[in-house]
Amino acid sequence: MDLSNFKPEVWTTSSNSALKVSLVGKDGAVQFTPTFTYPIFGESEQIFGYKDLTIHLAFDSVTFKPFVNVKYSSKLDTDETEDVEKKLLDVLPKDDDVIVKDEVKWVDSFEAEQSGGYSLPPDKYEIEEYEIDGENYAVFKTNLTKSKDLKKLHRRVQIFSLLFIEAASYIDEDDSNWDVFWLFNKTTKQCIGYVTAYMYWNYANASQFDRDNYTKHFRGKISQFLIFPPYQGKGHGSKLYQAIFSHWLNATNVIELTVEDPNESFDDLRDRNDLEFLKKQGFFAEFSDDSNDFVEDNWLVEKQLKYKLEKRQFSRLVEMILFSKGF
Ligand code: ACO
Repeated sequence: MDLSNFKPEVWTTSSNSALKVSLVGKDGAVQFTPTFTYPIFGESEQIFGYKDLTIHLAFDSVTFKPFVNVKYSSKLDTDETEDVEKKLLDVLPKDDDVIVKDEVKWVDSFEAEQSGGYSLPPDKYEIEEYEIDGENYAVFKTNLTKSKDLKKLHRRVQIFSLLFIEAASYIDEDDSNWDVFWLFNKTTKQCIGYVTAYMYWNYANASQFDRDNYTKHFRGKISQFLIFPPYQGKGHGSKLYQAIFSHWLNATNVIELTVEDPNESFDDLRDRNDLEFLKKQGFFAEFSDDSNDFVEDNWLVEKQLKYKLEKRQFSRLVEMILFSKGF
C-alpha cells in the first residue's frame, strides 16, 4: 500500500460536500448540497473511512419518495469507519419507504404513486392561492394527526429541515398543536415548500379560564420555514409567509404571530413583508410630521395587539418606519 494511504486525511471527507441532494422532475434533476449535515454525521461534519465518497439522496419532486445510493472507490475495514448509509437511513422514513441503490425500482415506485391517485390535500384545507409566472400555487394548512397521507409526506420531507435550518429537530407528529402549512404547484402537484408551526396556548388567568364562554387563545409560532432550493428567490417564501400571517390575523383564537430563531434571510423576508403589510394597513401614514405625539406606549401596544405582531418585532418595525421618515 502507498504510504500516503496511512494518512487519516486521505480517508476523511466533508459530509457537506459528499452529500448530493437532488429533486427529480419531468424536466430532469436539480442537484444541490446541504447547508448542515451535523445532525446526521456529527458535529465535525466529517466522514472517516472512505475514498471518493458521494452520498446520493434523491427525491421525486412530486411524491418526495426518497432514494439513497452511497458510492466510493475504497472503504477502510476498521471499527472507526462510519456506516454512512445507516446514519442517513436513521433520519429518513421507516417502513421501507426509502429505496436504496435500486434506481429502477425507485422510479417505478414513485411513478406508480403519481399515477395511482396521488393528490393535493382536500380543498377545505386550502388557505391561499396565488400566481407566479403564469403558474398557480396554493397554500394548505393541515394537522398531521388528522391525515395519514400528509404524515407520510412530512416524514419524507422533514430531513430538509435538518439539512437547511440550523438547530432544527424533528417535530412530534402526534402532538396536535403542530400545524404544517404546505405550498404546492396546483398543476404539477410539486411541493414547493413547507412550514411547521406550533400553537401555544396563551393562559391569561384563572378567572377568565373559569368563564362559561371561555375560548382558548393561542400564539402561533413559526418553527421551520423552508422553500426547497430549486424554487428559492422567486417570491414563494414571501407568498407563503403572507398566507400564514393573514390566516392567523383572521383567526379569532390566534392573538400573536411569533417566529422561532429566525436566521438572517428569514428576518429579511419577515421585515420586508411586515413593513409592506403595515403600509397597506395605513400604519405608515399614522406617523405625522411630529411623530412624537404618536409614539406613546399605549398607542404602540394597541397597534401591536391589533396587528398581532410580537412586541420585539413590532418595535423593530416602528424603528425602521421612523428611520425611513427621517426621524
Ligand atoms: N425575481 C427575482 N428575485 C426575487 C423575486 C423574483 N420574482 N421574488 C423575490 N425575489 C427575491 C427577494 O427580493 C429576495 O431578495 P433578497 O434576498 O435580496 O432580499 C429573495 O428573492 C428571497 O425572497 P423570496 O423569493 O420571497 O424567498 P424564498 O422563496 O427564497 O424563501 C427562505 C426564503 C425561506 C429563507 C428560503 O431561502 C429557504 O427556505 N432557505 C433555506 C431554509 C431557511 O433558511 N429557512 C429559514 C430558517 S429560519 C426559520 O425556519 C424560522
